[in-house]
Amino acid sequence: MLKNDKEKEKILITTAIDYANDVIHIGHAYEKILADSVARYYRKIYGKENVYFLTGTDEHGTTNYLAAKEENMSVEEYTRKISSLDRKEIDALNISYDRFIRTTDPDHVKTASNLFEKALERGDIYKAEYEGFYCEGCEEYKTLSDLDEDKKCPQHPNKQIRLLKEENYFLRWSAYENALRELIEKKDDFILPENKKNEMLAFLEQGLNDIPVSRPKYKVPWGISVPSDEEQIIYVWYDALVNYYTAAKQKDMWNEKTKIIHFVGKDILRFHALLWPVMLLSLELPLPDTIYAHGFINLKGKKISKSLGNVIRPSDLVKKYGVDAVRYYFLKHGPITEDVDISIKHLEEVYNADLANGLGNTVARIAKMAERSGLSFEPQEKEFVWQAPWSAPISKFRVDLALQNIWRMLTDLDKHINENEPWAIEDQEELKNVLSKEVYQIRKISLILEPFIPSTSRRIQEQFFKDRIRSEEPLFPKL
Ligand code: MSP
Repeated sequence: MLKNDKEKEKILITTAIDYANDVIHIGHAYEKILADSVARYYRKIYGKENVYFLTGTDEHGTTNYLAAKEENMSVEEYTRKISSLDRKEIDALNISYDRFIRTTDPDHVKTASNLFEKALERGDIYKAEYEGFYCEGCEEYKTLSDLDEDKKCPQHPNKQIRLLKEENYFLRWSAYENALRELIEKKDDFILPENKKNEMLAFLEQGLNDIPVSRPKYKVPWGISVPSDEEQIIYVWYDALVNYYTAAKQKDMWNEKTKIIHFVGKDILRFHALLWPVMLLSLELPLPDTIYAHGFINLKGKKISKSLGNVIRPSDLVKKYGVDAVRYYFLKHGPITEDVDISIKHLEEVYNADLANGLGNTVARIAKMAERSGLSFEPQEKEFVWQAPWSAPISKFRVDLALQNIWRMLTDLDKHINENEPWAIEDQEELKNVLSKEVYQIRKISLILEPFIPSTSRRIQEQFFKDRIRSEEPLFPKL
């Protein structure tokens, strides 16, 4: 057994929940594909019933409220519409979530208000007046040093920064500074990749001030009310982060027996690594095991955004290239550690090289030779391949490196075919011996591909896990 792979009984895997101000694009979708492949992999190790994979939509707050207003729709109707379109997008990618949570779901609303109220009772949330610069894009107060020279948020230059003075409830963030530092420094794999850990420690170096965790209802009318003070709405991040707990608690999965892994983009690592643990510590609830922060997908060096008109929807790519080609491309070349620039040209090159030629060609060659031989190949056991050297990088969520290992296995297999020239072997016993090795290996590869490209894996399994193997249509027709 590989280190870290089964130190707990269960595993909870989450993605960030997407704002319902607009339908998700391929940037958001990357995170789903990444988390999905990890969830599918762990289901093989922990058993299906011990893995819970959560995704969904973040529907409260100003961002969503203003988007609905712009479309002249009620915010309830608008967020319902976007949430269901998001769900279609992720279904097109064959994402195997166990629950698609919406922060408007009644169980979540109840849980978020309960946790807020408990923290209030314990004294970790208190009421006071606040004055500060608020960015409605980030849904966060900014200090002057966070802003550009012209007092704009670098991430949302099109949005106005507002100077707000209001009564809010505050979270005693400052009281947890040392606990956070110790957590980040000492807990193995708490923040991955490793370099992101230093970023968070550097942020802590600046010192923490208590932060507002509510907004007055007359300013933010759309959200969950503070139960004991109907004039206040729970801050959208406090509300959104609780989604993980809402869903997991019901499945008895927010506890020490469960390994909890959050996948997030680098822009929201701070909320997950510094705010969420404090919310949990203040309620004496278990902490997540890992927060994995991936980079950003850019297009031709530019941020993906509606205003730049360069948005690509996952379902459009799937229609054109097939779901597994899209999954493979992003898993192999996505921003797992750093930002990446992607392009349709690159996707097509990778499709032809790795899928049409690489995998597709090797599968077709072996099927053809096995069929021609007229020999019978008794199927092997399907169980043994999950914890092997190829999968070692997954313990640190490096699915890109795991795929690299699998493609190396494919190259070795091709080499085996070329060196042994099965087409030239006349002796039946020798032919059976050589081909069996190749059939065995392609069966093994088909199994380990399942978490990453499940439909293709199943197609190869159906073709190869039988005595008589036949040639079939190409898996990935050349573009
Ligand atoms: N609603 C919050 C998250 C709350 S989680 C409790 C939010 N939503 S978002 O819609 O703006 O982003 C959702 C996720 O998509 C985030 O992890 C974000 O980093 C990721 N991405 C958004 N654009 C992206 C790219 N261009 N590339 C990769 N990931 C990107 O933040």
